[in-house]
Amino acid sequence: MSLAISLTLNGVPRRIDLDDPRVTLLDLLRERLDLTGTKKGCDRGQCGACTVLVDGRRVNSCLALAASLDGADVLTIEGVGRADALHPVQAAFVAHDAFQCGFCTPGQIMSAIGLIREAQAGDDPERIREAMSGNLCRCGAYQGVTEAVLEAQRALAAASRETAA
Ligand code: FES
Ligand code: FES
Repeated sequence: MSLAISLTLNGVPRRIDLDDPRVTLLDLLRERLDLTGTKKGCDRGQCGACTVLVDGRRVNSCLALAASLDGADVLTIEGVGRADALHPVQAAFVAHDAFQCGFCTPGQIMSAIGLIREAQAGDDPERIREAMSGNLCRCGAYQGVTEAVLEAQRALAAASRETAA
């Protein structure tokens, strides 16, 4: 059975035929659309490597059925920044050595962007650690991740104050 869905994917409207209506968003991204920046760690909602934003909210794409996302706005790591113009969260990850092997990093960055948009953690490192706790890192780069989120949050707040001024 084939099913068509419409998505806005990294800012571009797409109409996609799903050959298998049970395909997850993660497999659709990686195997059909060649967007392999989103990683498959556990494939069962436990590691956060597959985190993307759906309608601005953090989602484990391995747990999301693509068929349920008709009309959604999906942002993956490929839609964040450019090599010559990093997103403030990406720049802060570099500045704070917030990765080693990098496998978890796309998910960490998407989760950090979602967290900053949620504006729930403030500038409390403990609350940031808790809010990022769904994103596991085998390399143990947690200290750098927390520092990077704090710095990116400050940079984005300053940029938004400048825009408003
Ligand atoms: Fe989705 Fe681990 S691959 S949470
Ligand atoms: Fe290696 Fe996080 S940087 S798993």
